[in-house]
Amino acid sequence: MNFRAFRIHNDANGYRAGIEEMRVDELSPGEVLVKAAYSSVNYKDALAGTGKGKILRRFPLNAGIDVAGYVAASTDPAFKEGDAVLCTGCGLSETRDGGYAEYVRLESKWAIPLPAGLSLRESMVIGTAGFTAALALYRMQQNGQTPELGPIVVTGATGGVGMLAIDILTCAGYSAHAITGKADQFDFLIGLGAKQCISRKELFWSQRPLETARWAGAIDNVGGDMLAGLSRVIEPCGNIAICGNAGGIELATTVMPFIIRGLSLLGIASAGTARSIRDDIWQHLADDWKPRNLDRIETKEAGFDELEPVFAKMLAGESFGRTLVRFG
Ligand SMILES: NC(=O)c1ccc[n+]([C@@H]2O[C@H](COP(=O)([O-])OP(=O)(O)OC[C@H]3O[C@@H](n4cnc5c(N)ncnc54)[C@H](OP(=O)(O)O)[C@@H]3O)[C@@H](O)[C@H]2O)c1
Repeated sequence: MNFRAFRIHNDANGYRAGIEEMRVDELSPGEVLVKAAYSSVNYKDALAGTGKGKILRRFPLNAGIDVAGYVAASTDPAFKEGDAVLCTGCGLSETRDGGYAEYVRLESKWAIPLPAGLSLRESMVIGTAGFTAALALYRMQQNGQTPELGPIVVTGATGGVGMLAIDILTCAGYSAHAITGKADQFDFLIGLGAKQCISRKELFWSQRPLETARWAGAIDNVGGDMLAGLSRVIEPCGNIAICGNAGGIELATTVMPFIIRGLSLLGIASAGTARSIRDDIWQHLADDWKPRNLDRIETKEAGFDELEPVFAKMLAGESFGRTLVRFG
């Protein structure tokens, strides 16, 4: 059977990506063949699709780190034709063919049955971005974070992870504050649940090892100076979940926040999350942490042959919410 895929090559003819035809028997191996219904665009997809970041560890591969769809065939009896499933990360578009394709073959250990309470479409508006935001909260709570300790600040607030983090934190009973480079979007962020919005451009971080504490914790998508600044202003025993590097990869801080305030930095690596934690998090996302504003967080729908401008905007720091990718 022939189908279309957004495939990335890197060979003697250079790094290139685009739509091409392929056959099901050319896909990476796995027990479950899925007819894709939706995927989504994440920062990593923009890096992979343009060659601006080293995401793929072998070539060629189909792009797309997320997919949701219906089982077309399965050699694992745990899945039957027509079952709705989803997968985020788990090597898609890194070591195996990813979700920007009409058909995707998954290893059954990574195919998650769509939890009751979510549609396939909703699962991909959430996608890796929402899974990452939820994983950040999950790890913070494991390390003692509670709503009573005070507000949690989210950086890169108008991006996919940022918007979903604000919504999920609010569902979970936290007071979410937002730091954004887009001051004209304060009202939008307040509509998602943010209790306070701060312009990134007006933030000032002094170079003292500790500043007056301002937040009980943080979900950081930016890294660099932002993360260093945050490390100096978190209340005693707070957590910073480090999700992203949209603003840089360096981290210049001192030991003082750790030995005086007991700060914890929690690394968030969504792609490699263990299956048991994945199951827990998707249950939360379908239930008590289900974002209430998915219809507004999904700001764009695109075919998988319309992704180049979406990638360019994302890499320019101009993302706003989530782009859903549809098939058929
Ligand atoms: N660890 C993981 O497992 C994991 C999973 C998913 C994503 N990520 C990472 O998390 C970050 C966000 O991902 P995403 O999908 O939400 O991307 P996104 O939709 O493109 O959002 C990124 C946001 O970061 C802010 N930003 C962009 N450039 C910046 C700069 N130079 N300095 C400061 N802020 C900047 C912008 O928000 P404002 O204009 O509102 O400030 C932008 O909307 C990325 O670095 C991504 O690689 C990590």
